[in-house]
Amino acid sequence: MCGIVGYIGGQTAAPIVLEGLGKLEYRGYDSAGVAVLAAGGLKVAKQAGRVRDLEAALPKRFAGKLGIGHTRWATHGAATDVNAHPHLDAEGRVAVVHNGIIDNAGTLREKLTADGVELVSETDTEVLSHLVARSEAETLEGKVLAALSQIEGTFGLAVLHADFPDRIVVARNGSPLIIGVGEHEMYVASDLAALVRYTRQVVHLDDGELATITANGFTTFTDTHERTHKQATTVDVVAEDYDAGGHEHFMRKEILEQPQAAERTLRGRLDERFGTAHLGGLNLDPRDARSIRRVKILGCGSAYYVGQLGASLIEDLSRLPADAEPASEFRYRNPVIEPDTLYVAVSQSGETADTLLAVQEITRKGGRVVGLVNVVGSSIARACDGGIYLHAGPEVAVASTKALTTMSLGFALLALHLGRVRDLSIADGRRIIEGLRRLPDQIAEILEQDEALAEIAHRLAASESLFFVGRVRGFPVAREGAQKFKEISYRHAEAYPTSELKHGPLALISAEVPTVAIVPHDELTDRNIGALHEISARKGPLVVVGHADVDLGELSATRIDVPRNVPELDPILLTIPLQLLAYHAALTLGHDVDKPRNLAKSVTVE
Ligand code: F6R
Repeated sequence: MCGIVGYIGGQTAAPIVLEGLGKLEYRGYDSAGVAVLAAGGLKVAKQAGRVRDLEAALPKRFAGKLGIGHTRWATHGAATDVNAHPHLDAEGRVAVVHNGIIDNAGTLREKLTADGVELVSETDTEVLSHLVARSEAETLEGKVLAALSQIEGTFGLAVLHADFPDRIVVARNGSPLIIGVGEHEMYVASDLAALVRYTRQVVHLDDGELATITANGFTTFTDTHERTHKQATTVDVVAEDYDAGGHEHFMRKEILEQPQAAERTLRGRLDERFGTAHLGGLNLDPRDARSIRRVKILGCGSAYYVGQLGASLIEDLSRLPADAEPASEFRYRNPVIEPDTLYVAVSQSGETADTLLAVQEITRKGGRVVGLVNVVGSSIARACDGGIYLHAGPEVAVASTKALTTMSLGFALLALHLGRVRDLSIADGRRIIEGLRRLPDQIAEILEQDEALAEIAHRLAASESLFFVGRVRGFPVAREGAQKFKEISYRHAEAYPTSELKHGPLALISAEVPTVAIVPHDELTDRNIGALHEISARKGPLVVVGHADVDLGELSATRIDVPRNVPELDPILLTIPLQLLAYHAALTLGHDVDKPRNLAKSVTVE
């Protein structure tokens, strides 16, 4: 969704800001803008459309050694030139870029209008520029604090003021902001992707924190203007992580990177001697872990489906009751927060507003939450009491692949850890570890079926509507398969438990509606095959994703076989071919695989 970039130093700011905005494109946006400050005052260029169009339209004279830029995902007001950020005050001396939502913007707009201020856009953000400009405080910091004291809502923001040409003031409340530290130049961004080309030394602002950024450094302070003392840390990502690296699409690159990503998630965490997983970041000593009576997993979209897989892993290995729930629904049902429940928030970006708000609801009520998060230092990771970083590496394509696979591994590690402080035997613990160690190579083996999968996807793409079905551990796999397929191919793909077909959806099966069925070799294989006969009898085309030793008998079906692991971990492998089916179907249909319509990589609004 929205993105912020800023630069101050010895170089011309605009190209650096625009380059940074380009790196944030993957998050999804519909307009972009940049403001620079030079001797002649503020200059602003902004318009609906892509960053490259903005770059092409930039006036020739657009110099200035400090600048801020923004990619906007429309919330308040349409995606127009006027609504694009930065927003200026009436005199054109203050420029503001803002991520988040100002809840009391309506009231503030009315007040400003009553005071004779003419607001030119429909956005909530514009009020901020007027409030900063109208403050009588003597410093820019004082003016920003005065404006923020009138605001209710969430923000990550950056402010330029023509009267203070040596600084950018930034603030954070509920929307990420990161300062990048260079040599006599400084950067700011809402996402590491925009910074890592220039520096790996970063400072994450906390909620309620502001910073003054000059060419030579930064100072951080609270919203009551007390100094905070932040040290820069080195991030372990590099600029190349955000390049497609010769691949046609980021999604393809990220699918192919899964064996290495899986290895990183597991590295240093498996302990054969005791048949367990070491998860120091959980901050859960064995006595705490033993006192847990239930596990509740919260995530959104695909992260929720992986959460369902995680719940079954936890139940299987630790015999603790576990379930997953969409984080977006959780806090609205006034949930009972139990002291002996372990809450687990799962998120790739660590910035999904629905998941973050669920975490805050739990911690506010005294519950204990741990996070399974990919992005280090992200809002969800910081809001949790502990957690497991996934180490998938940056994920750029909107459709999540490698991050989801590493989430499943994170759940397997958590399940093993909880199991071994409870009743899981050392032999079973070692059996799971042995399975985990085999996974990266088995994933690589599946990826070799790329060509065959492309051919199957090509056929599936011809259908307007598809079913994905699976049972028990296979059902979350089917849900994720349908999700991936629909979000990038725009075909209607619906997931059902195989056992539920006869209770309704069978009415829709026909020669035009194919079914992708998850049929591993397990205790339900025969029942699964029984249901497939019902589909076949109604002429429904079948694609069976399972194991080579599943005997389909007389059934006519296209087979996709994956290697067998231990039954608890098989779902992780069964998910991999479904990613490639979705990818190739989207390619066949000529869609933008990495940036599907209407979707954003990181959904930072409720
Ligand atoms: C699907 C997808 C989304 C995300 C969801 C949660 O491919 O990417 O459904 O899984 O928006 O995002 P995170 O994991 O960043 O919280």
